[in-house]
Amino acid sequence: MDARAIITSIREGQGASQEQLQWFANGLASGAVTDAQAGAFAMAVLLRGLGDEGRTALTRAMCNSGKTLQWSLGGPVIDKHSTGGIGDCLSLVLAPALAACGAYVPMISGRGLGHTGGTLDKLEAIPGVSVELGEDQFRHVVSEIGCAIVAATDQIAPADRRLYAVRDVTATVESMDLITASILSKKLAAGLDGLVLDVKLGSGALMKDPVQALALANSLVDTANAAGCRTSAVISDMNQPLAPAVGNALEVAAAIRVLTGETKGTLAQLAAALGGVALCNAGLCSEVEKGAAQILASLSDGRAAETFGQMVSAQGGPVNFVESWGSLLPEAPVIREVACEKSGYVCAMDGAVLGQAGIELGGGRKRDGDIIDPAVGLSEITPLGAKVSEGQPLLRIHANRVEHADHVEAMLREAIEIGGTAEPVPPLLYDRIG
Ligand code: URA
Repeated sequence: MDARAIITSIREGQGASQEQLQWFANGLASGAVTDAQAGAFAMAVLLRGLGDEGRTALTRAMCNSGKTLQWSLGGPVIDKHSTGGIGDCLSLVLAPALAACGAYVPMISGRGLGHTGGTLDKLEAIPGVSVELGEDQFRHVVSEIGCAIVAATDQIAPADRRLYAVRDVTATVESMDLITASILSKKLAAGLDGLVLDVKLGSGALMKDPVQALALANSLVDTANAAGCRTSAVISDMNQPLAPAVGNALEVAAAIRVLTGETKGTLAQLAAALGGVALCNAGLCSEVEKGAAQILASLSDGRAAETFGQMVSAQGGPVNFVESWGSLLPEAPVIREVACEKSGYVCAMDGAVLGQAGIELGGGRKRDGDIIDPAVGLSEITPLGAKVSEGQPLLRIHANRVEHADHVEAMLREAIEIGGTAEPVPPLLYDRIG
């Protein structure tokens, strides 16, 4: 087989067979397919689509590019995954909360993708933490602590590891086929009993249109259930950052505040909503509402925080991270408060620009292999609907250099609209599928 023939067939709208997609996925994993071919493949799929069968075939092929884990643990093996957003550090909260509620969570996550942030980059903001665990260590951490958050490896979904990095820098992220195959190849390879998906909708999400978000949710739920993994999806709002922060260390801080019960807000609400579904699907509770209450209890009584601390330490981080995170996370040298230029209400935000601002500050990649700065980003972002007065802080920029802060401040002033009247604030949850 020849990569060019497969790319041509997809480019011409004729799709590709299961055998061709398996060949391509194996080539991504082995290196036989070049970066240029991977980029052209991703662009052809984004522009022409693969169709329902092709999408399922690509998912299967990418999953089969490595091995599938099997578990024999004292409880159900479940996971959560998001389609990507800004200020979305929910996995850092939910993985330990689910584990504290009796589930095992072998979470294979991703790095930043397009303007959206990645769980792995966030976790690596904690000094010493490694997300590149070998299979034996991954298994050990999951069985001892209840959860681990790791990167796809050379053995588990290696095709996604490669294609993900190529998509990130070739403007080929927003494809329903590629998102489905990327997420589910990792999740199916992790050998899960159940999965809950957080499909993001809004200006900071990959899907900006409700019809597209619903189509993606259905695609994910149908493909995963057909592969034998009990899966539901929630469509949630991404017209503003989920946590009031964008940036790796800043989002770890936001997650810790929720894990330790210091703050609640939308992060805790969404953790409860998704966690309730996941615990119910796993048979650990009889109703979604009861599962949600279990998650909230694990946050308020300290069990989720304790599990998070154990996971951080088992993955190479400091043993006292939960108690001492304030002095352990890196801090940017320039911290600038951006004040509101007029009084009114925060009416709209262009979430993609907020995500891009994080990248411009150095918190994400513009090219494959870029080194990112964990300390930079935005914090204390005033939420949609808030009443503000001229001169009052709108957010804080954490930068490496004053020029970066100047550049990003100009971007943010364009991206955040302050109007004279209060606009309705979008709900946190839109829909549940499966
Ligand atoms: N998360 C992934 O793992 N892959 C995507 O394509 C989007 C979000």
